[in-house]
Amino acid sequence: MDKRFRKTIIAGNWKMNQLASGVPAFVQELTEGLDAGAGEEVVLCVPFPLIPAMKAAAEGTVIRTGAQDVSAHEKGAYTGEVSAAMLADLGVEYCIIGHSERRAYHAESDELVNAKLKALLAAGIVPILCVGESLEQRDAGETLHVVSNQVKADFAGLSAEQARGVVIAYEPIWAIGTGRTATAEQAQEVCSFIREYLAEKVYDWDTSKAISVLYGGSMNAKNAAELLDQLDIDGGLIGGASLKPADFAVIVKAGNEDE
Ligand code: PGA
Repeated sequence: MDKRFRKTIIAGNWKMNQLASGVPAFVQELTEGLDAGAGEEVVLCVPFPLIPAMKAAAEGTVIRTGAQDVSAHEKGAYTGEVSAAMLADLGVEYCIIGHSERRAYHAESDELVNAKLKALLAAGIVPILCVGESLEQRDAGETLHVVSNQVKADFAGLSAEQARGVVIAYEPIWAIGTGRTATAEQAQEVCSFIREYLAEKVYDWDTSKAISVLYGGSMNAKNAAELLDQLDIDGGLIGGASLKPADFAVIVKAGNEDE
């Protein structure tokens, strides 16, 4: 499948790390490590309080600001929640939803993830939808079944046009933060399956080939090039290695070489 239909996206997920005060120095070091005119989208998904600092530091650079979660509700009595309109108002362009840490620690269901996805699209923010299987599910041979069920439920009610505005991140749970990366073949197999599933069971090939599918899970400066070289892997969602500007710059450049 021809990658020219899709954007390469290299997105960092800072999780609950870094401070607003450290953002300017981080961005400076990262941009110094990047080649001018990188062709792909470089995104940093930061904790909510760091968003204004990231927007300010990233101005005039290739870096786009992302968030890590959003409320499914538009507004109102939801103490502690942050709406899609609030994120859009701050200039947020991407937002992770359905990360396995939120599914596990906050019991987020596919139904909730679907509602969050719709809230983001309505606010003009690109959702980075995470799907992926646990180790038990992989060992039981259920990977493709689990992932297709998540995709089906998370995309429920979305038109083909809306679906084109979604980015998917395949993140096997056993590879997140463990240093145990999926092999390039394992990652390619599932990413290509997701594309085929969207094309044949949910939408059509024109729609499916416009959707970027990223890989996430212990991607780092050493293994990024091989993973990003795979036909159906259109970028990466990077946790630990996105906290180090020099390493993240290497990953961005690996994505760029693959264009
Ligand atoms: P990791 O995290 O790169 O540290 O494995 C990836 C993620 O959780 O998005």
